[in-house]
Amino acid sequence: MCGIFGIVTEKEQNLGPILVDAARRLTYRGYDSVGAATISGDKIDLRKDAGRVDDVAARYNLQEMTGQRGITQLRWATFGEPSQVNSQPHLDSDGDMVGAHNGNVVNNVELREQFMAEGMTVRSHNDGESCIHAVERYIDKGFGFIDSIRKAYDDLQGDYAFVIGRIDDDKLYAIKKGSGLVVGIGEGFTCVSSDLPSILPLTRKVIRLEDGEIITLWHDRVELHSVKDGSLIEREPEIITEEMGAVQKGGFAHFMLKEIHEQPKVAAELLHFLENSASVQVILDKIKKARHVYFIGCGTSYHACMAGSVYFAKYANTAVIPVLAPQFTAQYLPAVTPEDVGIFVSQSGETKDVLNALQYAQAAGMTCFGMANVIGSTLSRVTEAWLPLCCGYEISVPATKTLTNQVITFLYLATRLGRRDVKALDQLPVLMEETIAHTDPQVQALVEDINQWNDLYSLGYGITYPTALEGALKFKEVTYAHCEGMLSTEFKHGPLSAVSKGFPVFFIAGPEDVPLIVSGINEVTCRGGRAIVFSEYDERLKANASDLVTIPTSNAAFASLLAVLPLQLLSYYVAVARGFDPDFPRNLSKTLTVD
Ligand code: M6R
Repeated sequence: MCGIFGIVTEKEQNLGPILVDAARRLTYRGYDSVGAATISGDKIDLRKDAGRVDDVAARYNLQEMTGQRGITQLRWATFGEPSQVNSQPHLDSDGDMVGAHNGNVVNNVELREQFMAEGMTVRSHNDGESCIHAVERYIDKGFGFIDSIRKAYDDLQGDYAFVIGRIDDDKLYAIKKGSGLVVGIGEGFTCVSSDLPSILPLTRKVIRLEDGEIITLWHDRVELHSVKDGSLIEREPEIITEEMGAVQKGGFAHFMLKEIHEQPKVAAELLHFLENSASVQVILDKIKKARHVYFIGCGTSYHACMAGSVYFAKYANTAVIPVLAPQFTAQYLPAVTPEDVGIFVSQSGETKDVLNALQYAQAAGMTCFGMANVIGSTLSRVTEAWLPLCCGYEISVPATKTLTNQVITFLYLATRLGRRDVKALDQLPVLMEETIAHTDPQVQALVEDINQWNDLYSLGYGITYPTALEGALKFKEVTYAHCEGMLSTEFKHGPLSAVSKGFPVFFIAGPEDVPLIVSGINEVTCRGGRAIVFSEYDERLKANASDLVTIPTSNAAFASLLAVLPLQLLSYYVAVARGFDPDFPRNLSKTLTVD
């Protein structure tokens, strides 16, 4: 989802390399267009277009841009197609202000009409431009910058953050409403960004903004104001100690592959954390007394919720409702009471669908807990207690290590709630390591054949049903093929008609469900289809499957988690074979801060 970065220095200098590097560090959020603007004295230099950072930087020579202030933006299209004119930053009508936003201005269409009726020059269909005109509207009426932003805030509906500056000034201004915004304070400069990765290489001294706050940046200081009444807010900067090593590819061709390989390490760190976390008992105590328990998330995080609900039923005798966040609001909200408990799960901790559901649930009095990877994210701040996923930065848009750590967190909670041996989970990191090493060559051998198909199925049963859904999502996300995840027993109720010679069907087999999976395999193979099975070694599966990708032998809970790893690897290798960049699949964004 869009990302913004702005920097203020003392005097005009070559800002191009800083802006391009900041843009590169925001790419993990997903984008289709890139732009940069620099401001010096009475000049604004604006260069932007649809495309990847390095392409646009080379085409428009962004590296050479100079200025006393600079803004860069990566855009993920919602209002207006990806194009040069819709790219950000945007100018105001007479070209003496420039700015860019992240988020969604939901009344963009109405605002554009108002601005045009008021005689402003509207050049694009993009809602980022509306942020600039909304400020221009009040600057032109004689209001000061802070007051103009405050008034613009009342006009702009939706969730967003934007940064803006004008000629003949030495400052940048930024506001946060719903989208992330962090300020960095360095030696001789200040900066502001949607997220930490673009700030930390420059400075570790940061201030996190809250919703409804405006920041003014000079080269040597910043000032925080409340949107509500314009009052000054005092907030001490914090020093970030997190390591940035994770944002380098570390010898891997892509972040996705690196992050797949990081799973054993971050799983070990997570288990160590969970054993020492006071929040675990707080959450379990509430769950024990709850009337209903919901696990709520979207996309991959929802699949972790599904896996969690299987573990809770199987290992803690506790029924849990896993539900997609918007459906929670649409379906369950009327039935929610203060006796209910929800765990809201989100890698980013900023997914709008999840935060919306959380807001409604809190208003209904439900006890709400969080599980998120991004420290300082909204989800981590507004829930009663939260569990960090301990994965470090996950840059690649496809979630890999955050999924496995979400699933391990649920397995840990279920194991503790069921008074089982949590120490047994300590075997997981080694098993994961072995799984990656052992299955990597096995899946690579399948890539050429699988690559011929644009329609596939991924089937699981019981404990491996969420694994099958996750395998299908990952495959779709990075290969752009259609891959449908399904309960294996449902296949014969319709989709079986799609099977033709060589048609690939993935089966994820848990050790307790082999006989049932063998039936499913035969329904496919006897019609000429190819049944590719991911499971522990089993004679019965070996005898019936077309291909058997074997994971180490353990138990049903571990197998359902381990089988995700070869599915991630297969998706990755097919995407690469197709010439796609698995880190940044087209049309997708890492952090979905829109409805
Ligand atoms: O940040 P979140 O976990 O809330 O994101 C939810 C989904 O958008 C996300 O899991 C998405 O499905 C992944 N990119 C899939 O790999």
